[in-house]
Amino acid sequence: MLNTEKIRQDFPILKKGIIYFDSTSSSLTPEPVLQKMLEFYHEYRANVDRGVHRLSQKASEEYEKAHAKVADFLNAKSQNEVVITKNTTEGINTVANGLQWKKGDKIVTTLLEHHSNFLVWLRLKQRYGVKIEIVKPKPPVMYGLLDVGDFEKIVDDKTKLVAVTHASNVLGTISPVEQIAEIAHEHDAFMLIDAAQSVPHMKVDVRKIDCDFLAFSGHKMCGPTGCGALYIKNEVMDEIEPLNIGGGVIEDVEINNYTLNKTSKRYEAGTPPIAEGIGLGAAVDYLQKIGMENIEKHEKSLAKQMYEEVSEIPKIEVYGPPPQKKISILAFNVDNLNPHDVALALDVSANIMIRSGHHCALPLIKQVLKKSSVARASTYFYNTKEEVHKLSSALRDIAEHLTQ
Ligand SMILES: Cc1ncc(COP(=O)(O)O)c(C=O)c1O
Repeated sequence: MLNTEKIRQDFPILKKGIIYFDSTSSSLTPEPVLQKMLEFYHEYRANVDRGVHRLSQKASEEYEKAHAKVADFLNAKSQNEVVITKNTTEGINTVANGLQWKKGDKIVTTLLEHHSNFLVWLRLKQRYGVKIEIVKPKPPVMYGLLDVGDFEKIVDDKTKLVAVTHASNVLGTISPVEQIAEIAHEHDAFMLIDAAQSVPHMKVDVRKIDCDFLAFSGHKMCGPTGCGALYIKNEVMDEIEPLNIGGGVIEDVEINNYTLNKTSKRYEAGTPPIAEGIGLGAAVDYLQKIGMENIEKHEKSLAKQMYEEVSEIPKIEVYGPPPQKKISILAFNVDNLNPHDVALALDVSANIMIRSGHHCALPLIKQVLKKSSVARASTYFYNTKEEVHKLSSALRDIAEHLTQ
């Protein structure tokens, strides 16, 4: 059981009466994470891997520890499989631009994807003539559930990469990534997972899933902005040419040649986001202390409550599957109201923050939901049943009084 009351003390914004239902976009950051970053600035503010003096040694040690914490969190074999990035987007771009492509290579992705796991593949199509095949959700499509059988039909020996979101940022749907990875590997294709919405909310085990690449953002899991991570399975590391090269990536340099470091260090060119990386390590500590199983359980109960209370309000249409099949996200529209107006009304009338718009998932919004935008409320472990109830009451008011 979570002690939500105690946990909430770690988040100063929550003490100001704010009800934050936009963690899918970016989570709040707790004090212990901020304190850990401040410790770097106050006590060992120096560059990493570039000095023998004690401040640099200490900063390097803490930055290394952050990699080790992320590796442990994901059950990776070693911290050498973890690259600290700016965000999920950078992680996916690193893979997209690092693999060697030729005309006729095939990429399989889905209609559920965030633009970060979609545009990169479209660009490869334009650049190299790579073929993209898109798996659509099975009926009822607005649940956003993927059918493993569709991957069996579409993934073939020409497929070089299967790139799938682990959890949809609009519908919350959880994808069967373990089975999809197995299908990809039967055809010698790589498996990439966009884990921006799974790693913060559930236990993710890269060895159990057996993916080759997995990207996520620190700022969605209590870490600071400006950091994320990319897992690259050790066995496939040589397949990925680094996006940037420069300081910090080499084993040796001659006048005419260079050899790259054998570990994930080769993907962290230049001075890295040291404080943010250390903050990411602290966020992992924070989540592990609470326990991912406890987080998941708490959020499941909020998801159920939110779904039940909101879907029974007249004039509100909810999208996505029933709560047992998804993370705690609720996408909806209130009658003919523009979702931005709904979000503003919730802010002004009830101090409730939600997201509205296309959620950087236009193919899904347009082709699956047949809309141009939707409203979305999303919870995290610091939210409470009372807050969910305030959301549904405020929405009931809006549906009653603001619609014609
Ligand atoms: C599923 C999914 N993928 C990728 C991203 C991109 O994350 P970032 O903006 O941190 O790179 C997001 C952000 O909302 C997301 O929800």
